[in-house]
Amino acid sequence: TKGAAMVTAVASRVQAQRKQIDKVLALFQLTREQLIGVQDKMRTELEYGLKKKTHALATVKMLPTYVYGMPDGTEKGKFLALDLGGTNFRVLLVKIRSGRKSVRMYNKIFAIPLEIMQGTGEELFDHIVQCIADFLDYMGLKGVQLPLGFTFSFPCRQTCIDKGTLVGWTKGFKATDCEGEDVVDMLREAIKRRNEFDLDIVAIVNDTVGTMMTCGYEDPNCEIGLIAGTGSNVCYMEEMRNIELVEGDEGRMCINTEWGAFGDNGCIDDICTQYDKEVDEGSLNSGKQRYEKMTSGMYLGEIVRQILIDLTRQGLLFRGQISQRLRTRGIFETKFLSQIESDRLALLQVRRILQQLGLDSTCEDSIVVKEVCGAVSRRAAQLCGAGMAAIVEKRREDQGLEHFKVTVGVDGTLYKLHPHFSRILQETVKDLAPQCDVTFMLSEDGSGKGAALITAVAKRLQQQGKE
Ligand code: GLC
Repeated sequence: TKGAAMVTAVASRVQAQRKQIDKVLALFQLTREQLIGVQDKMRTELEYGLKKKTHALATVKMLPTYVYGMPDGTEKGKFLALDLGGTNFRVLLVKIRSGRKSVRMYNKIFAIPLEIMQGTGEELFDHIVQCIADFLDYMGLKGVQLPLGFTFSFPCRQTCIDKGTLVGWTKGFKATDCEGEDVVDMLREAIKRRNEFDLDIVAIVNDTVGTMMTCGYEDPNCEIGLIAGTGSNVCYMEEMRNIELVEGDEGRMCINTEWGAFGDNGCIDDICTQYDKEVDEGSLNSGKQRYEKMTSGMYLGEIVRQILIDLTRQGLLFRGQISQRLRTRGIFETKFLSQIESDRLALLQVRRILQQLGLDSTCEDSIVVKEVCGAVSRRAAQLCGAGMAAIVEKRREDQGLEHFKVTVGVDGTLYKLHPHFSRILQETVKDLAPQCDVTFMLSEDGSGKGAALITAVAKRLQQQGKE
């Protein structure tokens, strides 16, 4: 009887704890109505960004890219590409052969030390040029002047294909004296400072655009590019007549939406949790990129960490002990989230991963951690899907179509590595945009290949202009 009473007491405590955990997880479970709300608001913001009257105040910037169409398969030649925007910097040599449409690439990856990412602009660009010099030496290309495409994965205001003013840094970057400056000029000046070689910079390209191009090279239905990686962003082909910031009504141009900034005006505060706020406040760009912070690899692990801290504080995890490790920013990279959520993984292995991260967990702890990861990544995929639904529905309506068939080129670690993200994203789009038939196509290295393709087209147009 005494024993029975104790068992009941323990059982009811376990039940109470379960309730507390479920309460936290429930904050991340969005209803269909809430997702439709997100879709509608995204749609409104897309229109604001495109219109002259509202553009200045719009959060989703809808930046013109001066990319007018897809490669047609006749592109050929050797190109250099630079890729800056993720955790690494890459320099690539891309050889495109027309006809068989084969593309060969050679690349070198360079780490960007934190102090350079967050130092001065001059230091950052000097470092980049140093890396380029290394690569040219290595490939035996010094002195050969190849056309170059610069994939620069940050919001840039462009007035032509080879000019781009940085609107503001996103993700982990914070180099000084760059915002408001032309990035191509900064690169050219750094090359001059070094005074060792010259480069023919032809195009500046957002990674979403490169990704769309790479898929468009193979699939004519591709007119949208999505990155679900360190950051989150989309580009798509828009009718010129809808782009009020650019003269002309004929044809189409690719728009870099910079949708990561969706919500910066508070329009999705109703679905933000205290954990989202904590992540935002602890970030380099507090108040900015609110949607990106709910949907991309750089921040999902941070949301998870904030929840785990709270659950521990409530005595529901890790025996109530908040370890130094758990207090450390950035411990849950996309790679780990993906591993923890893999269905093939036994709980014991989840525990082992947590152990690797320096988190000592019981079996019950690891169940909870896995649930937390699941709730956070599921919401991310659904939010991303709601955004995508807004884009494809807009395109369908603008063309007056009953049904719209379209391919989305995708890249990014979250999409590629996570065991459930891509599926949930696709299910959400299907549910919220039932009149659209959306195919997601993995892009193989859009930042390299895509930049080279855009450069090839731009170079051809440049030469035609001269003739
Ligand atoms: C950030 C950048 C955007 C980029 C995205 C994915 O949102 O602002 O330009 O496309 O990350 O890398």
